[in-house]
Amino acid sequence: MLLSEFIRKSIGALENLYPSPEARGMVLMLCEERLGVRSYTHIIEPQTMVPEEALPGLESDVARLAKAEPLQYVLGKAEFYGRSFDVNPSVLIPRPETEQLVKEAVSFALNLGRPARVLDLCTGSGCIAWSVLQEAPGCEVVALDISEPALRTAEGQFPGSECSPRFVRADVLDFRKGLGVEGRFDLIVSNPPYIMESQKQDMRPNVLEYEPGLALFVPDGDPLCFYRAVEHWASQLLSEDGAGFVEINEDLGPQTAALFTDAGWKEVLQIQDFYGKTRFVRFSKKATE
Ligand SMILES: C[S@@+](CC[C@H](N)C(=O)[O-])C[C@H]1O[C@@H](n2cnc3c(N)ncnc32)[C@H](O)[C@@H]1O
Repeated sequence: MLLSEFIRKSIGALENLYPSPEARGMVLMLCEERLGVRSYTHIIEPQTMVPEEALPGLESDVARLAKAEPLQYVLGKAEFYGRSFDVNPSVLIPRPETEQLVKEAVSFALNLGRPARVLDLCTGSGCIAWSVLQEAPGCEVVALDISEPALRTAEGQFPGSECSPRFVRADVLDFRKGLGVEGRFDLIVSNPPYIMESQKQDMRPNVLEYEPGLALFVPDGDPLCFYRAVEHWASQLLSEDGAGFVEINEDLGPQTAALFTDAGWKEVLQIQDFYGKTRFVRFSKKATE
């Protein structure tokens, strides 16, 4: 089959689920990854064929996409902060907005004047932990998650790396047990679950049916439970001159900031993303009692 024909048919198969430009982007990326062609090959070399042996695999990929499975799970990888991370349905697909959290964290770590100790709560694929470690070499990163399969995925990123974050299984909501980590940290980062159950109705099937609910949702009655946990652990584990950065539900900026202010943190900032949505809270300097 001609590549252009395959692309046209595949976009058609996805247009029920996705707006045309998005369907097109997905199909072009699939072809780039699976066939090693460029996104414009079918235009500048219109006679390009899909190799016969590649066709069944590609058709099965498109069938998965047509059932709303995210492209990143079909390919088994996702780009984040300039690197490719392995992903599977046990981990949230890293989101572009989380790159801003990494940027803030890296800048803090590089300006600290000593190798930072960094704690990543709710690490999922490990995208924050690994990115901070690779962008601020020399720091020590410990990353926690409750999910064993997520931790296995996170641990398996970048095999053969000289340094790796230390991945630890812990339930951050269980205040009776410790987290199994020692010492103080200069930086605590977290992109925890924060979507309210009632917000499910606004979400698309590729997220709802495929991404892990454990990574996404919090009860409507207690949507800030993970931020209370971050605050709880930060008040025990953050060094005097340390800081915390959390990604938040854009609808709950003032409430999330208030949780930290009310708990005695003196510098609490709401930070906007590139689209002007309040997306992060930074906190530092706990008042001593
Ligand atoms: C929103 S995802 C974030 C993953 C990753 N940090 C990222 O930014 O892509 C939240 C993560 O929290 C983990 N999680 C959920 N409940 C938890 C708990 N009680 N204790 C620790 N981790 C938890 C989930 O397994 C999931 O990996």
